[in-house]
Amino acid sequence: MKSNTSNTPTEPNASSSAQEKPDSVVRDGAVQTNPQADGNSRRDFLKKLALGAGGLGLLGGAANPVIARKQPVMPAGNATITDENTAFHFAHLTDMHVRRLRKGHEGYAQCIASVNALDPAPELVLMGGDMAFDGLYNEKDDFIDMIDLFTSASNQLNMPWYGCIGNHDVLGLSARRKVPADDPDIGKGMIMEATGMPSPYYSFNHNGWHFVVLDTIHQVQAEHGPGYVGRIGEEQLEWLRFDLGAHAGMPTVCVMHIAAFCNTGQISGDPEARAMNHMVVDDNRALREILERHGVKAVLQGHSHQIEDYYYNGIWYITSQSVSAAWWGGNWRGFKPGYTVLAAGKDGSLNWWRQEFEWEHQLEPGDTLERERMAERADFEREQRRLYEIEIGRRQR
Ligand SMILES: [Fe+2]
Repeated sequence: MKSNTSNTPTEPNASSSAQEKPDSVVRDGAVQTNPQADGNSRRDFLKKLALGAGGLGLLGGAANPVIARKQPVMPAGNATITDENTAFHFAHLTDMHVRRLRKGHEGYAQCIASVNALDPAPELVLMGGDMAFDGLYNEKDDFIDMIDLFTSASNQLNMPWYGCIGNHDVLGLSARRKVPADDPDIGKGMIMEATGMPSPYYSFNHNGWHFVVLDTIHQVQAEHGPGYVGRIGEEQLEWLRFDLGAHAGMPTVCVMHIAAFCNTGQISGDPEARAMNHMVVDDNRALREILERHGVKAVLQGHSHQIEDYYYNGIWYITSQSVSAAWWGGNWRGFKPGYTVLAAGKDGSLNWWRQEFEWEHQLEPGDTLERERMAERADFEREQRRLYEIEIGRRQR
């Protein structure tokens, strides 16, 4: 499944050849020199750039904000946007929550078929976490079954895929665990082994682009035993600094499950909602400053199951459509099951769009809450249509 991955910052993997790590590349309309190639130290390189650009604000993509274009949602089908600038396509699938309940595993098979049908085909698939559902609250044998469902379906992809850990991909890091608090499998080991992840976070190169998979599930010792918080953590941040430094000059995309940006409080209009909550990593500022220094193109996020995108200081933060929508219980806030397809440009630009796939939800007899939520949503959409028709003069008040 995987190849050419590395979490060793000083030793880019074997595929990081001279061809993939050019001495200088045109990025955002300016030639950027690889600091390793011209013999400058990384610190000198940053200093020179900061002085030349008049400060950190001009590092990375901020020098030219047009680093990415986005496209509307593509309905189910196999049309893929491409042009002569496209070097290759890749896909981001997140929050698939594969399980037997509501026939989620059959829905995921539909998603895999949709990816395989894309033309031109993506050259790789980045998983965004919450791949299996779930390790936090289930017996170990059930979790093993869910992981098997996920990996066996994912292995039907016609292209390599890369795992990323979500909060539901870990065993027992919760007070509601159904395994003993001292179970040796508690944590990330099971999902990493099943999906072939070399470590909880890692990076790899493909076709001149650098990809970084981050781990946002930071294990902590809670009162109830092993738990987690959404955090990158000092050790991983230190690794990231020098991983990006070792690949300076390469257009880079990061993947993380819990987001750096998620404005769910603003979306809901909730004045009580805290900006920093469990929907974002708690060290997102430290993360953002590193990503901005290195001009990372985009951060692909998951966890909230709601479509969002923010462009800040040269970086596009894209929360992809959830593959499972409402955990296979219908659409979530109107969003259908889907994923994101991205086109990596030969000039380091990025183009992306949402891709839906065909799936009719399969509710269980006891899914009362889901039925109520779907009815509420239908009422809301009906009311929005009614108001719109009044506003355009097609209907009386
Ligand atoms: Fe999720």
